[in-house]
Amino acid sequence: MKPFDVYPINPINIVKANGSTVWDAEGNAYLDLYGGHAVISIGHTHPRYVQRITEQLNRIGFYSNSVEIPIQRELARLLGEVSGKVDYDLFLCNSGAEANENALKLASFYNKRKKVIAFSKSFHGRTSLAVAATDNPSIVAPINETENVIFLPFNDEDALKEAFSAHGKEISSVIIESIQGVGGIREASVAFLQLIRSLCDQYNAVFIADEVQCGYGRTGSFYAQDYSGVDADIYTMAKGMGNGFPIGAISISPKFKASHGSLGTTFGGNHLACAAALAVLEVIRQDRLMENANAVGQYLIDELKRIEEIVEVRGRGLMIGIELPASLAHVKKDLLLKNRIFTGEAKPNVIRLLPALNITKQHADQFLSALKEHIKAAVAV
Ligand SMILES: Cc1ncc(COP(=O)(O)O)c(C=O)c1O
Repeated sequence: MKPFDVYPINPINIVKANGSTVWDAEGNAYLDLYGGHAVISIGHTHPRYVQRITEQLNRIGFYSNSVEIPIQRELARLLGEVSGKVDYDLFLCNSGAEANENALKLASFYNKRKKVIAFSKSFHGRTSLAVAATDNPSIVAPINETENVIFLPFNDEDALKEAFSAHGKEISSVIIESIQGVGGIREASVAFLQLIRSLCDQYNAVFIADEVQCGYGRTGSFYAQDYSGVDADIYTMAKGMGNGFPIGAISISPKFKASHGSLGTTFGGNHLACAAALAVLEVIRQDRLMENANAVGQYLIDELKRIEEIVEVRGRGLMIGIELPASLAHVKKDLLLKNRIFTGEAKPNVIRLLPALNITKQHADQFLSALKEHIKAAVAV
């Protein structure tokens, strides 16, 4: 047996990691500004994280949701505090797709409706409903196709108003990444998010903020959506939550009443996952990582905006998209192979920075000087 070949992979075998540095099997060090796709939030192998998980594993790693798991309550309390949503409830699962799946399902249980509004270039995951609400036909299998998802252009207020006036009573939920990740680091306007809020209120639809990539402190506030000044009814999260330990969750407004059996999972909320998530939140709070994300992120954005060859710099905090002209499309690969700097990408020609929230200004400078060198070399040709 061998792994099913679904990933285009870099021929690099990472065997060790610390903070924002990873090492390959030959001992070469790399600067990690990708965080394994926005997952590494507090840095690789953070001592507090390793300690918490190790201690938990030595006590008990797993028992199912058929017994009391006090560490879930501890996690819910801390997440409520750090996110500023103390009156929301927490449902724990294992991934971003599963979080979105549960959010869409809970919305439908709530208002007994079937239609979902999603937006162009959205990415919400690969399972049935999540992928149906994802704007990428190439990853939607025939069995995932449904008439229930209405795709609208991102940030188009008129289209949103029209959709509600045409189908308002059938719309169960609106799902949006306030900053689209896979879509190329595109930000929803404040007016658009506020309009979603008011239309959801008017039509009793549910506002779901997909914070799987943009959330968990990455943009300098706990939920990226916070910049709009309006609350979502459900926030979905995963990536940064466990710093690599698989865990996802939804934060649920008090207007939803829980009923036994409506949502459930075998692994979600297990002791070990909760210990990992608690360590992450403790470090985010104690080390003021949201402030750091804001400061280092703003520094990077300001410096990048000075480079005239860059088409556009988008994003907030440490979720940054650098759109390059087609002639500089090779730069991402050069950064990896020549400078040993991991970055992410989005099509076409967008470098995505999704580093740990505790990267330093020195890391930012290391990246900036490598980037400038490649741009200068390409322009000189
Ligand atoms: C915004 C967003 N939602 C959902 C997902 C799906 O998360 P997972 O891969 O954990 O299922 C992703 C993953 O990239 C994402 O970026």
